[in-house]
Amino acid sequence: NLPKPEENFEVIQQQLLRWFVANKRDLPWRKTYTPYHVWISEVMLQQTQMDRGVQFFLRWMERFPTLEVLAQATEEDVLRQWEGLGYYSRARNILRCAKLLMERYQGIFPKTISELLQLPGIGAYTAAAIVSIAFNADAVVVDANVERVVSRIFAYANDVRSKEGYAYIVAMAKKLIVPGQARESNQAMMEFGALVCTPHPNCGQCPLKGFCCALFLHNVEDYPKKESKTRTATTMSTVVVHCGPKLLLEKRPQTGIWPGLFAFPSLDAAEISPKDAIEVYVGKLMGTEVSASKFTELRHAYTKWQILLCVYTVSVEHIPPSLPSVFQWVDIRDLTNVALPAPHRKIANLFIDANF
Ligand code: ADE
Repeated sequence: NLPKPEENFEVIQQQLLRWFVANKRDLPWRKTYTPYHVWISEVMLQQTQMDRGVQFFLRWMERFPTLEVLAQATEEDVLRQWEGLGYYSRARNILRCAKLLMERYQGIFPKTISELLQLPGIGAYTAAAIVSIAFNADAVVVDANVERVVSRIFAYANDVRSKEGYAYIVAMAKKLIVPGQARESNQAMMEFGALVCTPHPNCGQCPLKGFCCALFLHNVEDYPKKESKTRTATTMSTVVVHCGPKLLLEKRPQTGIWPGLFAFPSLDAAEISPKDAIEVYVGKLMGTEVSASKFTELRHAYTKWQILLCVYTVSVEHIPPSLPSVFQWVDIRDLTNVALPAPHRKIANLFIDANF
């Protein structure tokens, strides 16, 4: 007979908690559950695997040990610490949020979801994570792990990204939280999803196997059901303009792909030959005729885009006396101090390997 998890919420809650106490990873923010630590770790973990997340977290806390220190930092410094995690608007929001917390809340995190939601960069997930994990308040935290665990237990057949699907997962996850122990319960579900109920799970070892509808139906790997996300293909032509050890960077506009980051100058999909387009573009900037050489091609997925980057190099003899202020010449030795989009960092490394 199909298991009846809905009649066994309390047993499942207890099994999850027991499993967590015995198997939880020793993570740096799990020592004191300082709100500042919980906040930074949760934002980092939204976009990276645990091992890397821990490395970034430890490095971050060395540089910005407290909210006060962070609030005094420059945006460049914050972006530099964030480099490699991507989604730089998150790093900018972290800095804005730290400043606001110092100004409006004397550096003390508000304890309600509604207050937290007013802060820049804090959405439903992060607000729930902070109140439940830092303050042990009864909020439910739904991440991809929780989505997987819950949708399997109940063999939930609809798209979990739909409004109804998400509401269902939230409602069931809520019932799996032990009242008064949200800190442990929420982390138990996330950790269980990360370590046991993984995309390709080992159901033989699972403490919930008697309660799992998907296991009973032999289709565990079909959950969570998701409508596939389609990305728009786009081409960019990118150019490394170099004059001896100096490379030309351009600050990208505040909208579109990689808003506000420095990157190698780029043109969106050119209708004519990209090589010609690059030569015309760089030639105008430099005030002289230039010749571009194809260097490499890279593919990169970024939010809703699937980008093909066609990379060219142009060597120039002289640095022109003035360029629009969005451009900046950077010595190759200083390139590590600039936060570049991930594929542009790759281009920089390839270029340095090939030329220096
Ligand atoms: N992934 C994201 N946040 C997590 C947490 N608090 N515990 C375990 N895995 C996580």
